[in-house]
Amino acid sequence: MNLSALEAMHARRSIREFESELVPADVIKQLVEAAGRAPSSKNTQPWRLYLVQGAALEALRADYLAAFESGKPAKPGYQYSPNPLPETWAARAKDVGIGIFKHKGIGRDDTEKRRAHDRENFRFFGAQQMFFLGTQENAFSYGTFLDCGFVLDNLMLGLTALGYGSCPQFSVMIYPDLLKKHIPNSADTLFIAGLPFGRPKTGSQVNAFQPARELIDNWFKTIG
Ligand SMILES: Cc1cc2nc3c(=O)[nH]c(=O)nc-3n(C[C@H](O)[C@H](O)[C@H](O)COP(=O)(O)O)c2cc1C
Repeated sequence: MNLSALEAMHARRSIREFESELVPADVIKQLVEAAGRAPSSKNTQPWRLYLVQGAALEALRADYLAAFESGKPAKPGYQYSPNPLPETWAARAKDVGIGIFKHKGIGRDDTEKRRAHDRENFRFFGAQQMFFLGTQENAFSYGTFLDCGFVLDNLMLGLTALGYGSCPQFSVMIYPDLLKKHIPNSADTLFIAGLPFGRPKTGSQVNAFQPARELIDNWFKTIG
């Protein structure tokens, strides 16, 4: 499988259930090399990327699950969204939240299943391999996030083009101390996002969830 750029953009969706099969090391190397061709202001290449797998990922997962279960207070290294969200954004966020619960058959008042859904984030959706994207702590500005985002999107589209899948995660950024504990030499890294990845689980119901998009006329204008 090797999709064209446009095909990969259309085919990508957030994958939240994986096969146990590993993405081979040589494929990961090719993917990361291609993702690193991302543009950046003045070619600063402000990104840092960590691949965590095997026993290291299991140890990290165990710590994340323990933190989730104990209700450890969130301490993200940066604020992802404006607070409050503009009204139209908030409406879309609400729609996707309701949509995924409905898709999974989770009722409004089913707090246990809702918590199990949230817990999935902290077990990295069961992925066997995970990228963590970061940049240098205390040296970033808005544009740094833009540059790093290009790498994240390259990784997601590249994985899709090769027949794999992934789910970008901000949720796991609430415990950066756990990442610093498990990822060597990351003391001065600001973690931006996690990306569990792998072969999408065949027949998975959750992976079939596809939130709608605005018609492009609502956000795309041609002038001239
Ligand atoms: C930076 C970023 C962080 C995200 N964090 C999470 C997350 O923590 N958990 C999750 O289930 N989805 C997360 N998402 C996925 C979004 O919910 C998803 O991209 C959006 O609903 C559109 O769906 P699609 O990716 O399937 O097209 C994140 C997306 C982005 C871009």
